[in-house]
Amino acid sequence: MKEIGIGIIGHGFMGHEHEKMLSQLEGFRVVGISDIDPTQLEDVFEGEKRYASNEELMNDPEVDVVLIVANNNQHHDLVCQAARAGKDIICEKPVAMSLEELDDMVKVTDECGVKFTVHHQRRYDLDFRTMKEVFDQGTLGNVYAIKNQLYGYNGNMHDWHVLVSEGGGMLYDWGVHLLDQVLWMMPGAKIKSVFADIRNVINEEVDDYFNIMLKFDNNITAVVELGTYYLADKPQDKWFERHWHIAGDKGSAYVDGFFPEGKIVRTSSLLKNVGGKRTMTAAGPTRSFGPPQEGKILTEELPKVDTKHEDYFRNYYNAYFGEEEFLVKIPETRRVLALMNAVRESGRTGKSIDFE
Ligand SMILES: NC(=O)c1ccc[n+]([C@@H]2O[C@H](COP(=O)([O-])OP(=O)(O)OC[C@H]3O[C@@H](n4cnc5c(N)ncnc54)[C@H](O)[C@@H]3O)[C@@H](O)[C@H]2O)c1
Repeated sequence: MKEIGIGIIGHGFMGHEHEKMLSQLEGFRVVGISDIDPTQLEDVFEGEKRYASNEELMNDPEVDVVLIVANNNQHHDLVCQAARAGKDIICEKPVAMSLEELDDMVKVTDECGVKFTVHHQRRYDLDFRTMKEVFDQGTLGNVYAIKNQLYGYNGNMHDWHVLVSEGGGMLYDWGVHLLDQVLWMMPGAKIKSVFADIRNVINEEVDDYFNIMLKFDNNITAVVELGTYYLADKPQDKWFERHWHIAGDKGSAYVDGFFPEGKIVRTSSLLKNVGGKRTMTAAGPTRSFGPPQEGKILTEELPKVDTKHEDYFRNYYNAYFGEEEFLVKIPETRRVLALMNAVRESGRTGKSIDFE
């Protein structure tokens, strides 16, 4: 099997993850690692090089692909340098801090004739892929709403992720994944409008909450919401909330958690109202929100989907040798950046923004 020699730039949190995964994956060899902070290279695996500089890594003939895992504000310059050194490139998300940066990166990588893609591996997340499979099967009828949500309970944002100058903030960090998933779930659909609330709840510089509503031309409205400061007292292994919900006129599907627990749910008489039993609230009874009569709600198991992080690199390997297409295409990442601009504009103006 042919091997791709990888040089990793940035050996922090995610750089370590890449090193671990790629050193175990057939077809890849981590040739070496560079980091502007030499202390980050102390635990580089045996057999891998510790470069004294990024330039040394980029000029190493054993390195075929440079994997850029440095802070977000470094991506533009590092991608351009690696391209000029003739290396193929995988860049971490968000690919760039702005459309201008990305357009320049594309110009340089095109001119240099190198392969350039982005590590959007959350397209392989099990919860997302399960819901995409349900969506693609089309058994929910006319889908009208999609929700993609993530909440943390203690306001945990760390290191440079709280600094604007380094590319911090949750829209760049997780928004880029959550929006990319929704767009990739229905690639043909155009976004008509964007309305967003985006806030710095406890962080002075960067956003730590957003609620985004996207109206698509296929009549679906998607809500993407993330909060880092949704205080709650939960067990260690449930220290976040992760939800998907897809609602159609012939059924709904939901999953909770990154390892999805959920169901497809339908009523026994499709497209008909199912009466609710009387139920009490503190200030009076309700039927609309009472439990359904027995036997009226039917559930089905979610489809079984087999997907994991390393599938991203399996696709990369096959695409590298021309056997399939790269899953993540640069124009798709550009569309997400443009959408993030519209989200920010809507948040700033309080108005809905026409898009596409
Ligand atoms: N795809 C994912 O799931 C995922 C998860 C986490 C982080 N990331 C991305 O990975 C990147 C790194 O994030 P992190 O959380 O690992 O940050 P980190 O701070 O833990 O690590 C970044 C490392 O890059 C080094 N660095 C900074 N500038 C450099 C430069 N010019 N040259 C060489 N090294 C440099 C730093 O010294 C540090 O060791 C970010 O772009 C982030 O968005 C992606």
